[in-house]
Amino acid sequence: MLTALLVALALSGAVAAAPAQQAPLQPPAPAASPRPLVIWHGLGDTAHSEGMDAFAERVRELYPGIYVHNVVAPRDASSSEESRAGWWGSAVGLGEDVCEQLSEIDELAGGFDAIGFSQGGLFIRYYAQYCNDPPVRNLITFGSPHFGIAALIPCPDPPTVACTLAARAAKAGIYTGWAQRNLIQAQYYRDPARLDEFLLANQFIRALNGEGGLDDDGEPTGREHGGLGLGQVENVVAIAFDEDETVVPGLSAHWATIDTNNASTVVPLKEQQLYQDDLIGLRALDKKGRLHLLTCPGRHMEIGGDGECGDKVLEKWVGWRA
Ligand SMILES: *[C@@H]1O[C@H](CO)[C@@H](O)[C@H](O)[C@H]1NC(C)=O
Repeated sequence: MLTALLVALALSGAVAAAPAQQAPLQPPAPAASPRPLVIWHGLGDTAHSEGMDAFAERVRELYPGIYVHNVVAPRDASSSEESRAGWWGSAVGLGEDVCEQLSEIDELAGGFDAIGFSQGGLFIRYYAQYCNDPPVRNLITFGSPHFGIAALIPCPDPPTVACTLAARAAKAGIYTGWAQRNLIQAQYYRDPARLDEFLLANQFIRALNGEGGLDDDGEPTGREHGGLGLGQVENVVAIAFDEDETVVPGLSAHWATIDTNNASTVVPLKEQQLYQDDLIGLRALDKKGRLHLLTCPGRHMEIGGDGECGDKVLEKWVGWRA
């Protein structure tokens, strides 16, 4: 029924529009309801775009009776304010806003699974690492730039004003205090060729990955500010797209990053200090078989239709009854 439903826009984190459809008749809900699900949309998208609502509807079809909450950030924003907030503002500010929102939703009180699309996956990590009350159970991210981006995300075609202006401002100086406070992408821009500048200026993704700053001698300080880390999550399911050209490098979705000394080499998670010194609990999770680095075929956010990659993830990791 939902063929071609979830094919997403190639150049943003948006999930594409779905054809209108009739709500299926639902069987009576079983005694124990499936765990609730929180979904955080991607860059350029909004909580209740056609694509996002269709995705939530697909979840409800798979798990009748499930409570699904699409995050609106900032709180009560109109869809245009919400879309703009993907480009402009403070990532920490959005995270804090949603920490407060989610703590007030009765249906989530016993914990929930969470899905983050693209940069939404970073924001939901902020929630899990710094708030997590109620707790995230399975944390699922699609194409999220977990170890940052080394190039700006291309504007959609045709470009939006918010994107064009943000790109122009970013080019004027991505590591200025102003950019780091006001441009969302600057807050997860991690250029391996300018690592010192990154470690001095960045607060958001650097802290999210427990990377310290630089000490007075210009040496990296090591672990700092990872919050709770991710060790308390039941499963971290991080999905990369094998033809992702939107996030650079695409394998940032698996915490890979570009080698500081060689721009043609992508260093996988297991070779990073982040994993080896277990800065945010990923190594411990991995040892328990609870870190899952999966790959979907296709370009950024092409999660497919019925029975395809996105569906398979929903079938395996969402809707648990414990
Ligand atoms: C850089 O990495 C590429 C790909 O991994 C490799 O072929 C090349 O030899 C490396 N260059 C240097 C200077 O190490």
